[in-house]
Amino acid sequence: MSQATETAAAGTPRVLSGIQPTADSFHLGNYLGALRQWVALQDTHDAFYCVVDLHAITVEHDPAALRRRTRVSAAQLLAMGVDPERSTLFVQSHVPEHAELAWVLSCITGFGEASRMTQFKDKSAKQGASAASVGLFTYPILQAADILLYTPEPGENAPVFHVPVGEDQRQHLELTRDLAQRFNHRFGDTFVAPDAFIPAAAAKITDLQEPTAKMSKSASSPQGIIDVLEEPGPMRKKIMRAVTDTGTEVRYDEQNKAGVTNLLRVFSALEGTPIPDLETRYAGSGYGQFKKDLAQVVLDTFTPVRERTEKLLGDERHLDAILRHGAERAGAVAARTMEIVRDRVGFVGRGD
Ligand code: TRP
Repeated sequence: MSQATETAAAGTPRVLSGIQPTADSFHLGNYLGALRQWVALQDTHDAFYCVVDLHAITVEHDPAALRRRTRVSAAQLLAMGVDPERSTLFVQSHVPEHAELAWVLSCITGFGEASRMTQFKDKSAKQGASAASVGLFTYPILQAADILLYTPEPGENAPVFHVPVGEDQRQHLELTRDLAQRFNHRFGDTFVAPDAFIPAAAAKITDLQEPTAKMSKSASSPQGIIDVLEEPGPMRKKIMRAVTDTGTEVRYDEQNKAGVTNLLRVFSALEGTPIPDLETRYAGSGYGQFKKDLAQVVLDTFTPVRERTEKLLGDERHLDAILRHGAERAGAVAARTMEIVRDRVGFVGRGD
């Protein structure tokens, strides 16, 4: 049973987040925008972190790639410092209650309400609206289920419930809050409405080739993205070739120097040095030295992560055992929540 949830002192706030296993590596934007916070939040929160493979099949996918990427995702999270003793790290499909609660929530979601989700509109526009699946349409409801299954229980945890996500997920979090309140209103108090927690420290990282656009797996070219698991040679090259401007000054200026500003943010976040200090350090030295040093900082951060990830992937049985342990802990909480939900909705219990 759940060591983390059993020993989490009353008053420990709960946190839950999820990430899709849709790439062979996480990238620098994922790391600085979200995953680094996941690691830090373990110190203050009873944490649940989920690799959301059910979400990954809302668009056409290759089963072998999904299987590989689910393990690669989990291994990277562990390699980055998610500690399976302190946090509950699990694979979404290992806990069938996610799909079950999603069904119940879909029955209290308005069709018009779901139609207003901008991420669905963007994603379906890309594929052609008629090619989009119903699963892609109900994606945010499954996300709401991911979150609400881990609603803190009164008495066990303070009713504080954080969901660290990027700015692009704010609307999905609003839907989750609305569904929590609607369920409570219709069927009795069950869920704590979660707070979107968009960490102030989360750096917004942009594309190296197109520094006004977000670094994104779906939108960036390979040259614009630094993958966490990338080999040192290509990693260095991409940073040296990052788009800057025709000037020479290493200065933070979002309007006129978007490329340099992005690199300063990365440098500052990874080394823990305030940006003005970096500006002073590189005054008069030009972009070459600045980029060379930045490349070293990035390599120093990600080389150990890559090595630990490779080691974890080398022992699949061990990795799967860690995930099974996480699924047992998550499953215990999810089962308790679903028992209450089934009863409130009016399903007859099996009597066992
Ligand atoms: N939709 C989220 C994203 O693309 C991933 C996700 C799924 C998630 N379930 C979640 C995030 C639950 C937070 C909580 O980033």
